Amino acid sequence: MKIIVTKDKITGGAQAFKIFANEIQNGAKVLGLATGSSPIELYQELAHSDLNFSNLTSINLDEYVGLDPKNDQSYHYFMNEHLFKAKPFKHSYLPNGLASDTASEVARYDQIIKEHPIDLQLLGIGRNGHIAFNEPGTPFDSTTHEVKLTQSTIEANSRFFDSIDEVPKSAICMGIASIMSAKKIVLLAFGEKKRWAIKHMVEGPVTEEMPASILQKHPDVTIICDKAAVQDL
Ligand code: GLP
Repeated sequence: MKIIVTKDKITGGAQAFKIFANEIQNGAKVLGLATGSSPIELYQELAHSDLNFSNLTSINLDEYVGLDPKNDQSYHYFMNEHLFKAKPFKHSYLPNGLASDTASEVARYDQIIKEHPIDLQLLGIGRNGHIAFNEPGTPFDSTTHEVKLTQSTIEANSRFFDSIDEVPKSAICMGIASIMSAKKIVLLAFGEKKRWAIKHMVEGPVTEEMPASILQKHPDVTIICDKAAVQDL
């Protein structure tokens, strides 16, 4: 694992941008994208860049179950606001959180990932070490699935909602095996609330109880974080 420690989130976003620009210029065609606060500065850089995404495909990690794409807390809405409005892709895929048949939505998403192998996958990390919404205990060989969110994730994500009762209780999420199949992975983590997760991801045993620890087994992972997030390493 390569670790780049930056002064703050803004310089972290600029570092991540350099990697994205380089990979795109070198022929990356499928980007795996993430939501959350960590990638916002990267998306601002991408949105204001002169990079052209019209021949690229994006595949997002996850979407809340039950939220309409027009709901401003949905990940569809987030991606439109932060990137797609400024930079349309040839195709942009997200799970359909309103699908009435979850099993066929999960199968549809796995097929999309199979048909579009991910060149560069962006990740954040939850305080408990989750990646996408793959919570502790998720099998490492998982593909797309519906996830029941843990109380700690519901609480962490309640900051984006008017009240904790509005936070959806489940999500459709790319599995850990799908994430691991990406050729290259960039993970962003800023702030001291990520200390525990970073330490256990980098130094801890590789265990399904700490989903991000599997990244130790991936051949090309770059972690971009600030000093607060790495202070326990
Ligand atoms: C959510 C998302 C994850 C994200 C995590 C951390 O749970 N599903 O993909 O990595 O939040 O979010 P943040 O970057 O806001 O700390």
